[in-house]
Amino acid sequence: MDLVSSSVAGRSFPAPANGPAADWLGLSGRKVLVAGAGGIGSAVALAFAEAGAAVVTADRDPARLARLGAELKTLEADLATAEGCEDLVAAAAGTLGGLDILIHAVGINHRVPLLDTADEDWDAILAVNLTSAFRLGRAAGRLMVAAGYGRQVYFSSVSGLLAHPDHGPYAASKGGLNQLLRVMAREWAASGVTANAVAPGYTDTDLTSAHLNRPGVRDHYTAQVPAGRLGSVADLTGPALFLASDRAAFITGQVLYTDGGRTLV
Ligand SMILES: NC(=O)c1ccc[n+]([C@@H]2O[C@H](COP(=O)([O-])OP(=O)(O)OC[C@H]3O[C@@H](n4cnc5c(N)ncnc54)[C@H](O)[C@@H]3O)[C@@H](O)[C@H]2O)c1
Repeated sequence: MDLVSSSVAGRSFPAPANGPAADWLGLSGRKVLVAGAGGIGSAVALAFAEAGAAVVTADRDPARLARLGAELKTLEADLATAEGCEDLVAAAAGTLGGLDILIHAVGINHRVPLLDTADEDWDAILAVNLTSAFRLGRAAGRLMVAAGYGRQVYFSSVSGLLAHPDHGPYAASKGGLNQLLRVMAREWAASGVTANAVAPGYTDTDLTSAHLNRPGVRDHYTAQVPAGRLGSVADLTGPALFLASDRAAFITGQVLYTDGGRTLV
């Protein structure tokens, strides 16, 4: 994450005089659990580390954890199970000495029409995308409410709002997630704990690349984005870190569409 300077359409903007050392987001020293070491989770974990936070990243796939490099703490966990979620939050809080921030970035999808969707696919997608959010959020929420501080940020999707064909269980999981976090937000607001979501449009990661690389698919989706391009993981780190920061203390229960305008059309 480059907080030093930025450029838009070839114009450069110098960093503010006090630069990144000012820790504008106040994330330095924050204790962060990132659930999911895929394309988005890895980028967010690295951005937190760069901002000076102490980060534990978890995934069921050790190969993805290994890609993060030795300097980041990692834990292997199957978040489709109750035990996996509970144990992960306890282990992360133990390792970090507490838990300030939970990022939920695990997800799976299986693109078939509803009439062909098997019970097993429905159950698997709901378990990973939605039930793990409930279980991780509840376990982290108990610690955060007791501590009187916390930030929870969930990766939702434009599919929680739009009716993409072949996305029945995925769309239901994201719509359910959006509503779950609104109740979390309401119940925990007085304890200094916020719950929000970042909702991306199509972003190139392992979750989407095989689909996007089919003939004509990438162009089809790109044409639906007013910004004229698909998102990248770098588009998502800033919104996630902001919602996890003290700057977002009065924002809770919100879904921040980070989609180049996809949900406007
Ligand atoms: N990539 C996109 O276009 C896009 C768009 C909208 C929303 N999202 C959401 O963002 C989040 C992250 O997606 P991504 O693009 O990084 O996908 P990804 O496939 O790159 O990463 C998902 C990660 O979840 C892990 N995972 C799956 N099941 C698990 C389990 N049972 N236990 C532990 N880990 C498990 C996988 O191993 C993988 O590392 C997901 O919630 C996804 O729905 C992604």
